[in-house]
Amino acid sequence: MQATAIAQPNIALIKYWGKRDIDRNLPAVGSISITLSDLQTKVSVELRDGLSDDILLVNGDENQAMLPRMSACLDKVLGQSRLRASMQSHSNFPIAAGLASSASAFAATTVAAAGAANLSLGTQDLARLAGASSGSAARSLYGGFVELKNADDNITLTPLCDVDSWPLQVVVAITQTGPKATGSTEAMEISRETSPFYDNWVAQQEYDLEVARAAIDRRDFAQLATIAEHNCLKMHSVMWASRPPMVFWNAATMRCLQTVRRLQGEGHQVFFTIDAGPQVKAVCLPADVDAVSQALAETSGVQEIMTTGLGSAARLVESL
Ligand code: DP6
Repeated sequence: MQATAIAQPNIALIKYWGKRDIDRNLPAVGSISITLSDLQTKVSVELRDGLSDDILLVNGDENQAMLPRMSACLDKVLGQSRLRASMQSHSNFPIAAGLASSASAFAATTVAAAGAANLSLGTQDLARLAGASSGSAARSLYGGFVELKNADDNITLTPLCDVDSWPLQVVVAITQTGPKATGSTEAMEISRETSPFYDNWVAQQEYDLEVARAAIDRRDFAQLATIAEHNCLKMHSVMWASRPPMVFWNAATMRCLQTVRRLQGEGHQVFFTIDAGPQVKAVCLPADVDAVSQALAETSGVQEIMTTGLGSAARLVESL
């Protein structure tokens, strides 16, 4: 009745922002992401007789704040009348700061919960269950490039290209640690209800997905760069125009964008993307990773740099 799973966060190149069904956590738009290799979350779930409530330790400390969402994740996989669980989660990167920690945490928890109860579920089903807890988590059930499609009554996940056939690198520039002001779930609802740009955002997503899919198919870095930056800035424009406005960036975030523009001007193959937080993720070709890391590390206000390649799908492992 115990299992441990590992999952890596993923970074969306074509973003998920907005929900069409809050209760089932179904996204309003499809998305395309890359799963990372070096950042990871390990979660162990032990289902125990005689335990009156779930317990959660995050990086060794009891965590009441995340407990309700983790318990709800177990309910989705195992049903409401399940045994209570002792859960432990360890991440090797800052959590809740716009680094997609919820993606890896809920992907790993879903896989560990199914493992602890000996359920034999396919990857697509596990992805749907993970997505019901956190939309982006569905994508971490797959490695490499992944597309999340909005199907009639659910989501469908499709791997687009595996890790080895286009080994991009990602340099994460951390400009601020600590939890973000507004969680994604709440922020998406504010955008849906108040942003004058929201409907256009949803309407244009299919086109952006098509362009990105074709670029990935042809390994066309320049085309992927253009559409990913456009999609990212469009999502942030939706947020900025919401009421109240949601600006996740700080001054160093902006300086990182300028660094990426300078690198592009010098001929480096790199583009930026930013999620619901102040960190900048620079995606580049392997030949450019040293120049990109160095330039971002030297950008004023950058506190830390993490470099990672693309990684594999969430999976069960032996132990924590
Ligand atoms: C900006 O998956 O965290 O990172 O489903 O409400 O848990 P919930 O949202 P979440 O949102 C991710 C938003 C994003 C873009 C993306 O990853 O596609």
